[in-house]
Formats: sequence, C-alpha cells, structure tokens
Amino acid sequence: MVFIDACFKKYTPYTPVWLMRQAGRYLDEYKEVRKQAGDFLSLCKNPKLASKVTLQPVEILNVDAAILFSDILVVPFEMGMDLGFFAGEGPKFANPISSAQDLMKLNENAYEKLNYVYDTIALTRQNLAKDKALIGFCGAPWTLATYMIEGEGSKTYAKSKRMLYQNPNFLHKILQKITYNLKHYLEAQIQAGVNAVMVFDSWASALEGDSYLKFGWQYCKEIAEFIKTKYPHIPVILFPKGIAGFLDKIDGNFDVFGVDWSTPLSLAKEKLGAKYTLQGNLEPCRMYAKDAMLKGAKEILDLMQGSAHIFNLGHGMLPDLPRENVIALVEFIHNYKHS
Ligand code: CP3
Repeated sequence: MVFIDACFKKYTPYTPVWLMRQAGRYLDEYKEVRKQAGDFLSLCKNPKLASKVTLQPVEILNVDAAILFSDILVVPFEMGMDLGFFAGEGPKFANPISSAQDLMKLNENAYEKLNYVYDTIALTRQNLAKDKALIGFCGAPWTLATYMIEGEGSKTYAKSKRMLYQNPNFLHKILQKITYNLKHYLEAQIQAGVNAVMVFDSWASALEGDSYLKFGWQYCKEIAEFIKTKYPHIPVILFPKGIAGFLDKIDGNFDVFGVDWSTPLSLAKEKLGAKYTLQGNLEPCRMYAKDAMLKGAKEILDLMQGSAHIFNLGHGMLPDLPRENVIALVEFIHNYKHS
C-alpha cells in the first residue's frame, strides 16, 4: 500500500493522499445514507451504513486511504456520558464531569462496548481494495476531556483549564481513565483490521506549551508507545492541532506527524521532517477556489519533494466544499510531476 509505505518513509511512486473528514456532507451520497440512518449517532452504530460511507470517498475521490467512519466522541459516550448531536450546534453532553463521583461513575472498559466500530472495520476491510489502507482513529485524551468537562465545544475551554490549574491531579485522573480506554480501543481496531491508527488532538492549541506537554502530548505519546511496542507494523499518526510554537519539544515513538494548516510546513519539515513522515497541510478553505487550491497544493508538493510526505488538508473538510474541486485535488496530487 502506497499510504503505508509513505508512513514508513519508504519510496512511493507518487505522493499518497487522503483528506480529513473526507466522508461527510459535501457528498450527496453521504447525505442519502445519513438520512437512511436517521441521526448521526445511529449512523455510527450501524456497521453496514457506516462501512458504506467509509468507502464512498475511496470510490468517488480515489484517495489512497479510507478512514473509519465514526466519531471521537463514541468513547466518552460508551463511558456513560449522555451524548447528543444537534444540527448547527455540534455535539453536547448532558452530564459533564465536575466531581470525583462523576468520574467514578464512568465505565472503565468502554472499549468493550464499541463492537459496532469493530464490526464496521471488519466489513470495510473486506470490501476495500487491497492497495488502499484503512485508518482507524480516536480522539486524544486532552481533546476528549475538554468535551467531557465543558459538556460541548468551547471557545475558551475555561472549565477544563480552571481544573488544570486548580486541581491538576484530578484532571490527570480523568486523562488516565480515558487513555486506558483509548489504548485498548485502538488495539481492538487493529485486531478488527485497520492498517494504521491516528490520534486527533484537535484542541491542543487551547494550552500553552508547558501545559500541553504535560496534559496533552504526554498522553498521546503513551498511547503511541503502547501501540508501537505491540504492533510495530502499524503506523501511528499523531495530530496535535495548532502547536507550531513548540515543535522543538515534540518527540516520541510514532511514525507520522499531522501538520495543521496554521503551522508553516517548512517549519515542521525543518524541525520534524528528518524523523517523521509529515502529513498535511492544505488550508481547507482554499478548496472553495480551484486556483487557490491548486497553487497551495503545488507549493506543498514542491516543498516536500524528496521528503516522506502524505498529502492531506490541515484540518477537516467543510460541508459546503465543491465536490468537483475535491476530485480535481486528488487527481492533481496523483499526477504531479516535479519539474
Ligand atoms: O471522514 C472522516 O474523517 C471520518 C469520520 C470522522 C468524523 N468525525 C465524522 C463526523 C472523524 C475522524 C471525526 C473526528 C472528530 N469528531 C474530531 C477530530 C477531528 C477534527 O475535526 O478536529 C472532532 C473534534 C469531532 C467532534 C465532532 N463531531 C464535532 C465538533 C462535530 C460537529 C461538527 C459538524 O461538522 O457538524 C461532529 C459531528 C461529525 N463527525 C460529522 C461527521 C461527518 C457531522 C455529522 C452530520 O452528518 O451531521
């Protein structure tokens, strides 16, 4: 698989490409299946339909990897948190964590309840072309903790950060409980058939460097170490979003560093490119304009010529991106010849 070769810094005949949030509302085919499922969580819990939308972007866009269709929040959901997705507002938990009792009530072994995810993986791997990779994923402990503490997305993360500075030991306890589940969750995904795993730390940028390293990155590294020790043939991708200011401090036993769009790719290449394959980092909104999109893509490919690279966006696709541009982007990456 070209994608896996790139993860391990092996030669590839072209730059492999996939797109974060490649399954979603910019595809009418997705909206159709989503309607059939009813609501978003029901879609995640239905292996047949979830597998169908996992495969759609590979069939429509010809990307080199499929990413499991699910959500990072199914883990806190199965830990016992009351999750709802509301149109235009995003996800919400009705019972956020604020006390030791709240934490104690949460299921220690939520990964045992995620069989619908493992079934989706097995079904998808059966139907996916042999040369395409299937990526499994989870949210990073810090990012999941922010949702579990705030109860929803946040602009300031004030509750989570208040806890970090007032009661750091309690925050560590929450993070440890999540981390334990995530290690076993990713392991079960591997056993079900994924070829690589990715950890999304979408809200890494909410913290200053020292705090992020202790409360965020440390746990990402712990998960990566657990997987790499047991499954060295499975690439691990870490994506801490928005931490350009402290790339110098980034280390650990993983294979691919996901570069978000706000981090200059040249800086990531200078700091981390010798050690890790870099994945990224086109600004998703460039895809609204084909010329801006192709110009951005060319700059990225030219910069990464001769270095291990997986083309991707610098964050997820937006629901109203023009589908024809997305198809054109993948074609452009696959056919690019360096001059
Ligand atoms: O195609 C893929 O990338 C795979 C599926 C995937 C989804 N969510 C599907 C989804 C993945 C990898 C995620 C990860 C995820 N979920 C993250 C980390 C990545 C990132 O974007 O930073 C986060 C923070 C979440 C939490 C989440 N889930 C939010 C904030 C929302 C609402 C945003 C929105 O666009 O409405 C979701 C819902 C969600 N997850 C949708 C999809 C396709 C939209 C649901 C719908 O169909 O209405």
